[in-house]
Amino acid sequence: MKKRNIIGGMLAAACCAVVLCAFAAHENADARAMAVSGQQTPTAVSHAGGKVLVVYFSVPETDGVDASSGASRVLSGGKVMGNTQYVATIISEATGSDLFEIKTVHTYPGSHKALIDAAKVEIDNNARPKLATHIKNLKDYDVVFVGFPNWWYDMPMPLYSFFDEYDFGGKTVIPFCTHGGSRFSGAIKTIRELEPQATVLDGYSVARERVANSEEGILKWLEKIGMKK
Ligand SMILES: Cc1cc2nc3c(=O)[nH]c(=O)nc-3n(C[C@H](O)[C@H](O)[C@H](O)COP(=O)(O)O)c2cc1C
Repeated sequence: MKKRNIIGGMLAAACCAVVLCAFAAHENADARAMAVSGQQTPTAVSHAGGKVLVVYFSVPETDGVDASSGASRVLSGGKVMGNTQYVATIISEATGSDLFEIKTVHTYPGSHKALIDAAKVEIDNNARPKLATHIKNLKDYDVVFVGFPNWWYDMPMPLYSFFDEYDFGGKTVIPFCTHGGSRFSGAIKTIRELEPQATVLDGYSVARERVANSEEGILKWLEKIGMKK
């Protein structure tokens, strides 16, 4: 029994290593996509006095270890948060903006392996999971941060449902993501395609093992783009 547990543990560790290496190999995919598109995007936000909204999607994993060891959760003020949720909270506090969580009608599994599999099925089926939360008064906001974890080198499919639901024309969208090595993959290009009338900034990505210590870098970035209050 003991031997079987040891072998099981070794197999699980090997799987994690393979997944981590695969993510790291895609690390600069978003940078390459930008270079190829040659698109000129503003590096700072000029916002005309409208409100700012921070939108995020995040699935804290209930198994595994803490964020400093690479799991998708952070402990902050005694509260367990998903990595992207934690980054969203910092942005919301630093910019004095409202916070909005994208939630789906169905619940994602909290355990890593089951979540990986569920997300793969959705991506393979080009699914549009039904959303349980909806933004009221989008017209009041002229700048919208949109945060998500990189899932399978892409945005999680609920983000596609989200961009299907809203037209961000005339607004500034500022993407941010957390990831295991792939940064945004091609997500910035995808958001620009889904929201052609919006100004979509290049955004900010945080590697999951740095999330717990990401505040200083986030604040510097917000200052640089003119969004720190
Ligand atoms: C289903 C799934 C797929 C993932 N795919 C990738 C990937 O392709 N590239 C990557 O760098 N990280 C990948 N990761 C790691 C997550 O992006 C990372 O753990 C993120 O910080 C999770 O954020 P959250 O806690 O807000 O959900 C994946 C994680 C999950 C659960």
